[in-house]
Amino acid sequence: MDLTLHSDYTLNNQERIPVLGCGFFKVPDGHQTIDAVLDALALGYRLIDTASVYGNERSVGEAIKRSGINRDEIYVTTKLWNEDQGYEQAKRALEGSLKKLSMTYVDLYLLHWPVAGKRQESWRAIEDLHDRGFCKSIGVSNYLKPHLVELLMHCRVKPVVNQLEISPFNYLSRLDTIQFCRKNDIHIEAYSPLTKGLKLSDPRLLKIARKYYRSPAQVLLRWSLQEGFTAIPKSSGKEHLLENSKVFDFSLSISDMDLLSAMNENLTTGWNPEDQA
Ligand SMILES: NC(=O)c1ccc[n+]([C@@H]2O[C@H](COP(=O)([O-])OP(=O)(O)OC[C@H]3O[C@@H](n4cnc5c(N)ncnc54)[C@H](OP(=O)(O)O)[C@@H]3O)[C@@H](O)[C@H]2O)c1
Repeated sequence: MDLTLHSDYTLNNQERIPVLGCGFFKVPDGHQTIDAVLDALALGYRLIDTASVYGNERSVGEAIKRSGINRDEIYVTTKLWNEDQGYEQAKRALEGSLKKLSMTYVDLYLLHWPVAGKRQESWRAIEDLHDRGFCKSIGVSNYLKPHLVELLMHCRVKPVVNQLEISPFNYLSRLDTIQFCRKNDIHIEAYSPLTKGLKLSDPRLLKIARKYYRSPAQVLLRWSLQEGFTAIPKSSGKEHLLENSKVFDFSLSISDMDLLSAMNENLTTGWNPEDQA
């Protein structure tokens, strides 16, 4: 299949999600987020990933409005933060997010973290919000296989997506969760696909990048694409946004995919969901 920036995957509820998007974690609310989202949309990105805890939903909504692009051509994800978990709290939280985004629905609403003791009732709230059309799809984030097994036993609406930290530097340590998602038709979104920049100078990665005349970031994103994940790199600068969009005109050989997948270091750049019972 020849992918482009406008290609998408079909989710288990028949909705479609772009193959590559942009994340806006730690981009400050205000002109920085507005400019970055506008740049991303102008370059052709159509998936914008935010979260209530990022504090920039208002600017994401403002940029989308200013872009002049039809709302239904842009895939917007936001997330339920941990302190808002619980049945009533979750309902109020999405209402708050929609207000800030100035939207009547989001394309994807994610449970940000599998909070023990709260995640089940939060999921019930999200299912009800989905029924009422406030989110076209619902999913989870940072769920490992045991969290997913529990959810699939109790859910009425199946999650369409699991958004997880994935790069070659932690692929093998996430493999049982990845395989479980594939088996159960839960699409994987790879967050921190560029390792937050920490591994872009790894000599093994540089060697592969040189071979393809590409940057290390482009190799990591191409690896994600060839694994069938939707990658959501963060970039607040136009140059990186452009560079990260140019990953559709080359492909990594099977042996280089294998070399990359073997670079596992159990890397976790933020939270480690293994710590969450
Ligand atoms: N669900 C969750 O729990 C969760 C957790 C973390 C992240 N996320 C989502 O995933 C998104 C991406 O993850 P992330 O922000 O943690 O890290 P990331 O995308 O792996 O890395 C972002 C870093 O890489 C730099 N960068 C971007 N493109 C580059 C390029 N071509 N060459 C060199 N450096 C480049 C960025 O700098 P510049 O900004 O200067 O370009 C930034 O410092 C987030 O924004 C968020 O939407 C979700």
